[in-house]
Amino acid sequence: MIESDFDKIDAVLIQFKGRKGSLIPILQNTQAQLGYLSKEALEYISEKTKIPVAEIYGVATFYAQFRLEPIGKNIIRICHGTACHVANASKISEALYEELKIVPGGTTKDLKFTVEEVACLGCCSLAPVIMINDKTYGRLTPGKIKDILAQY
Ligand code: FES
Repeated sequence: MIESDFDKIDAVLIQFKGRKGSLIPILQNTQAQLGYLSKEALEYISEKTKIPVAEIYGVATFYAQFRLEPIGKNIIRICHGTACHVANASKISEALYEELKIVPGGTTKDLKFTVEEVACLGCCSLAPVIMINDKTYGRLTPGKIKDILAQY
């Protein structure tokens, strides 16, 4: 972590100082500031709050909302809702994972992309659909994936 990261955590800790049961909001706010919860960040929170590091890890790993790995610059959401599933979303996922050389939920080594599988992106008529950041790509075929990724 860089110096300013410690400052950001300090600011979060000040906000919750002396409040009982504040570990989850502390972790949420730290993640919002830093993008993910690094080992260093969790150890620093432990040191400052005197909450045992094992307990902090327990909470951070229990809830799906917390990320212990860095997140990619671009977030790809791939829809696996019913309409997309019927329209062969799994073939789109396969093409995506193959192109990026990652596993579901993973982040590319260069931290360019993180992929999340989601239930429905709300544009089922365009199935199968992915979103990259705020942009929607619909009526996909596996062959289109490479060109779409090349735009980022
Ligand atoms: S099911 Fe994929 S957008 Fe709704």
